[in-house]
Amino acid sequence: MASKLWEKTVQVNHDVETYTVGRDREMDMYLARYDVLGSLAHITMLESINLLTADELEQLTAALREIYAEIEAGNFTIEDDIEDVHSQVELMLTRRLGDVGKKIHSGRSRNDQVLVDLRLFIRSELESVVEHLTALFKALVEQSNRYKNVLMPGYTHLQVAMPSSFGLWFGAYAESLVDDLTVLQAAYKVTNRNPLGSAAGYGSSFPLNRTMTTRLLGFESLDFNVVYAQMGRGKTERIVAQALANVAATVAKLAFDACMYNSQNFGFIKLPDEFTTGSSIMPHKKNPDVFELTRAKCNKLQALPYEITLITNNLPCGYFRDLQMIKESFLPAFADLKNILVMVTAMVSQVKVNEKILDDSRYDLMFSVEEVNRLASEGMPFRDAYKKVGLDIEAGKFTPVKEANHTHEGSIGNLCNDKIEEMYCSMLDQFDFDTYHNAFEKLLGKK
Ligand code: ARG
Repeated sequence: MASKLWEKTVQVNHDVETYTVGRDREMDMYLARYDVLGSLAHITMLESINLLTADELEQLTAALREIYAEIEAGNFTIEDDIEDVHSQVELMLTRRLGDVGKKIHSGRSRNDQVLVDLRLFIRSELESVVEHLTALFKALVEQSNRYKNVLMPGYTHLQVAMPSSFGLWFGAYAESLVDDLTVLQAAYKVTNRNPLGSAAGYGSSFPLNRTMTTRLLGFESLDFNVVYAQMGRGKTERIVAQALANVAATVAKLAFDACMYNSQNFGFIKLPDEFTTGSSIMPHKKNPDVFELTRAKCNKLQALPYEITLITNNLPCGYFRDLQMIKESFLPAFADLKNILVMVTAMVSQVKVNEKILDDSRYDLMFSVEEVNRLASEGMPFRDAYKKVGLDIEAGKFTPVKEANHTHEGSIGNLCNDKIEEMYCSMLDQFDFDTYHNAFEKLLGKK
């Protein structure tokens, strides 16, 4: 029984097929709905260049919309002897419509089909990552504002250094997310270009209208050069993975801080009880496992761009089956990151801070610079003031004034959280999700 789109005379060996298909059936389930959307745009374009009749377009459109609904309802599977999602959808169309189903593949290849599926998938997933990121950003700014007057020690070399505050600590991670969002925006821009029509990587002798499919799928523009469109496979994933990795790096650092500050030896914050776990032997334990796993999961996500680099490195231009392997680690990464963001947002909003940290005299010396600056502002040369305070400390005569009156931009007394929010919002405004939502609704006949 011939079950491959490309099978003609020689039957495919079962072990070889298992080897080449690998986990592709499972991975392609992530892409199924986007494969159908890509096909809806493709057939509309085929009709416009007379490769389908109006009647055929109508039948195919109805059947594809039906398949889309089945995917959404969870009633779609890639059958055991079917190679991938592209073959499955074509087979379903042929079963339902007969020969008309076989006409849909004119002017395209699975190479540009998977390219366009990936772009559409990434675009939607980035939208949802940005939503989750925004929730974390808001939680951080809120906590920063709430605790802006609560001082804590700042460290360099993990040695008590200078006064810091919970306003600064939470706010720093909020501002880090502004930069992470900037890179996500760049990744989104790279993704938002249409590769469809590049076919196997060299275009087609049919007079395809690529501008039309670009508009139908709500892309901002297209990958013009068909060879470059194919070169985008792996490159787009690497760029996007790097953008996800930036977010992961921010969150991993926050997670490490939180574990450390939660330890009895610091005692700066208290994690909500439901986010800690007990020990099987030590009855007193409330371990920060959630943040520890967050740290590990984030570190794993940061390996992703490197994995993609290694899979694609040293490949010349043109399609290779190597590229299929990227899907296994890349496609699930979005859900992983979103789960992390949900957990961290919940923890950040519920964490309690210790408002009495400075009662402990071990932190007294962090006010040494405040005293030096006070003397200097009264007219003593800075170097003399520095020396006087140093000698006082050595002689055990230093009594700290436990206040920090910092006024410049971004300091304890002037966090500029409003400016940080402005930067975040202006970056957020540069994402245009409506265009593609509208395009999808039209393709699906909902508008
Ligand atoms: N599963 C394949 C992939 O992800 C789809 C494209 C197949 N093309 C091919 N020439 N074998 O790359």
